Amino acid sequence: MSAAAHIEQLRAEINHHNRLYYLDAKPDVSDQQFDALLRELQELEAKHPELITPDSPTQKVGGAPLEGFTQIAHTVPMMSLDNTYSEEELRDFYQRLQKGLNREQVRCIIEPKVDGVAITIRYENGALKYGATRGDGRTGDDVTNNLKTIKSLPLRLPKDAPQTFEVRGEVFMTKAGFAKLNEERAEAGEELYANPRNTTAGTLKLLDPRIVAKRPLDLVLYGLADAGEADVNSMHDVHALLDKAGLRKADLIWTVNSADEAVAAIRELDEKRRALPYETDGAVIKVDDFGDQRELGATSKAPRWAIAYKYAPEQAETKLLAVDIQVGRTGALTPVARLEPVFLSGSTVSNATLHNFEEIERKDIRVGDRVIIEKAGEIIPAVVSVLKEKRTGDEQTIHAPTHCPVCNAIATKDAEQVVIRCTNPDCSEQVKRRLEHFVHRGAMDIAGLGSEKVGQFVDAKLISNVADIYDLDELRLMGIERLGAKSIDNLIKGIRDSKQQPPWRLIFGLGILHVGASGARSLLDHFGSIDKLAEASIEELTQVQDIGGVVAPSIHAWFRDERNIALLARLRSAGLTFANPQSEQLSDKFAGTTWVITGTLSQGRDEIAELIRAHGGKVSGSVSGKTTYLLAGEEAGSKLDKATKLGVKVLDEAAFRAMIS
Ligand code: IVH
Repeated sequence: MSAAAHIEQLRAEINHHNRLYYLDAKPDVSDQQFDALLRELQELEAKHPELITPDSPTQKVGGAPLEGFTQIAHTVPMMSLDNTYSEEELRDFYQRLQKGLNREQVRCIIEPKVDGVAITIRYENGALKYGATRGDGRTGDDVTNNLKTIKSLPLRLPKDAPQTFEVRGEVFMTKAGFAKLNEERAEAGEELYANPRNTTAGTLKLLDPRIVAKRPLDLVLYGLADAGEADVNSMHDVHALLDKAGLRKADLIWTVNSADEAVAAIRELDEKRRALPYETDGAVIKVDDFGDQRELGATSKAPRWAIAYKYAPEQAETKLLAVDIQVGRTGALTPVARLEPVFLSGSTVSNATLHNFEEIERKDIRVGDRVIIEKAGEIIPAVVSVLKEKRTGDEQTIHAPTHCPVCNAIATKDAEQVVIRCTNPDCSEQVKRRLEHFVHRGAMDIAGLGSEKVGQFVDAKLISNVADIYDLDELRLMGIERLGAKSIDNLIKGIRDSKQQPPWRLIFGLGILHVGASGARSLLDHFGSIDKLAEASIEELTQVQDIGGVVAPSIHAWFRDERNIALLARLRSAGLTFANPQSEQLSDKFAGTTWVITGTLSQGRDEIAELIRAHGGKVSGSVSGKTTYLLAGEEAGSKLDKATKLGVKVLDEAAFRAMIS
């Protein structure tokens, strides 16, 4: 078999398994078998790069970051829907349909209103052409590369399906995927995302599809903008087309022929929607027949043949028992509501967020109040309102703290923010939170040292800052209660091992205000070492990806604080890693040269690229007029041809090694 035929066969097989897995949820091969197929294809394509096509399953995870989003003018405007909030309004809508069409029975379909981000997707000649957001309804952002990371979205259509059409749907993040994402963020000490919808919208706007690929996005399709050549005359036909094309439609769909049936369907959906894998905030009722739809027409904003029925967000009434103040590692004092336990959307709630003290004041929330709490998509319940009419007079006003509840130091509000902070950096709660952050899995990951031990050690005055951890030895630990010889051994080993952690983990672990895990990574990728980072000016810091006008001054100030300078000196002498391994400059032999690597070499391409950079060279992915050298290994393909054509100097590995030896 020729390589081209082999590649085609593998692609068809992989697409087939993808469909079984993501669409039908009925995989018939193991993950390992699937991975083996994909790897085989990757290897073949690596040998024959000229055969790689943009719709190959290996290209699913996008390529390099985009410059920005191009705009796409919608073939048909993307409208929104009018909302209804009661069964009565729904019956009124049905009556308008009856009147408009001048008959008793109007067939409608009802499906869940997915709480995500509206999207349009165009296929041409069987291939995914583009996907775009709604934007202003007339033009949207071209987010094709981000959508390509969604595994259930086929890049190529089955041969027996219509080949050119445009469909509309909703991109969402599954409830489970969202919960997992937030768990990971909590572990990394990063701020939690509020709800799946906003996170989906934010994710689609990311410019780097490689980051998007890590987010659990999926989509359902519910409408048609352009049927192409296909014969589509009703919503039922749309569903048949989606099925044929291997595109996912709504999980629950009702067909109704009267207002009574419509009301019954939305009630049934309300009972079932919690079990759906995505958030829903209502039902959509649409006239089935396209002839009827045309006759009913549209207003300037929304069609007359469809309406959204919104369910009320789930709420519960309970009593506010107390407001506790939590002290964070940056000293932030956050109010937390302690509630009389109450059952809400599938779980018992006894804590809720109150956001900040300004909000408490604005809503006039008092201890002892009957309050309404809500989980509207949000995973963490919030206090939304107070039932003032139920007050007895015994309720107590909540005052914003003027002092830290733990160390009694003065608490102040920072200039732009509403956050109130404890001003004492030695506050034992702040110290504990900072140490917990330093040792946790997302940062230095010190095995054997969890929150409990940190608390114990701080209380025993054994440690009060992160450098103290590296002074811990057997002698000092022996005096601690409930700490056996084995635990001590593990702890000492965990601390020793952590000295090898990459420097971005150390920077993240130090808890510089506004610097999260990904920010720390970008900083070390950019500067290569903590020393270079420490010297950087605010202007140089803002050159780093994701580091903006708030973060840069915070980093700059941190490295100029004498306490932090002393802390870093101690960490350095304890032997922690301050520089990325390969970033040291070996020579500047290759300064001003640009390299492209191709074919099979004795080391991986990444390692060779590192080596070139270590000698001052730049490495690029494609051959052009700007390429200085093509480093060509065994079985070099199209890049070699192009380099020869352009007159680029070609080196084999031996010549390359000779240059750097
Ligand atoms: S049909 C002319 N069906 O809700 C627009 N929309 O508030 C026809 N939505 O813009 C839309 N699930 O983004 C339809 N099953 C569903 C939907 C749905 C979610 C969104 C969509 C729409 C918005 C209207």
